[in-house]
Amino acid sequence: MSQIINYGSCCIDHVFQVPHFVRAGETLSSTGYAIFPGGKGLNQSIAIAEAGCAVTHVGAVGEDGRWLAELMTARGVDITHLNLTDTPTGQAILQIDPQGENAIFISGGANLAAHEHLIDAALNQATGDEIFLIQNETSGNEAAIRQAKASGLQVAFNMAPMNAAAQALPLALIDYFIINETEGEALTGKTDPTEICDAVLGQYPKSAVVLTLGQSGVLFRSAEHNLSQPAYSVEAVDTTGAGDTFTGYFLATLMKTKQVDLALQTAAAAAALSVTQPGAATSIPTLQAVHQFLATRAS
Ligand code: RIB
Repeated sequence: MSQIINYGSCCIDHVFQVPHFVRAGETLSSTGYAIFPGGKGLNQSIAIAEAGCAVTHVGAVGEDGRWLAELMTARGVDITHLNLTDTPTGQAILQIDPQGENAIFISGGANLAAHEHLIDAALNQATGDEIFLIQNETSGNEAAIRQAKASGLQVAFNMAPMNAAAQALPLALIDYFIINETEGEALTGKTDPTEICDAVLGQYPKSAVVLTLGQSGVLFRSAEHNLSQPAYSVEAVDTTGAGDTFTGYFLATLMKTKQVDLALQTAAAAAALSVTQPGAATSIPTLQAVHQFLATRAS
């Protein structure tokens, strides 16, 4: 039985190494190009599975994305409710600069197909003890949130990419907001991390907020907890997927241990390791690697 049901995107990532992000009117030669598996949903499902938590991925790929489905299975994700559609798989174009920072644009493809029947089928097998996770790269998120809540599940929303549609969702039904500073500012109008957390909790007092701050670590706030976790310093090669790695590892460790502080620490370590490797899904570390990393940082 899966502990986390992740309704999320799958993308084929076209990754270009660039001297700087392309400017308006500019044609820029890349210094490297590769295709990687990606999509915030797929990345997060793989991170959950690597962290040792049973996960069912709900979503869709086209024929061109069969290899993504095979990869998810190989990395321990249950894809019973992943649909193979006639619509091509979602695509992402990523620029990676010499500092490892990225700029991304996406085309939704099969991620925007109607998925309600798949969500229904996954929720029909749920016991109510699961977490239902979504991001903002799929269609039908309002129905998905309502379906999950009606089935008694807790809902975690990684509000990425942030836009008006994400903010128009029934956010009072969200149990965990997982956001970065930019997303937090868009959601609350605040720039100070503490004020962002205060504002989210002020508006949604029954929820918890996980606010990731890059090099400055992460804050966790709920009615019961006020925690912070520093970031681990590493040499960044490619930051793509670090947030996804964090989200997956955080929720998986929380489900397994019920310890928020341990979940934050494990997720921070996994995210740090992920930026030392290229790609998104390909850079998600194993739990063994995360434990080894934490052991070296503790001594
Ligand atoms: O979060 C990183 C992901 O965002 C990439 O894998 C890309 O597919 C986009 O969805």
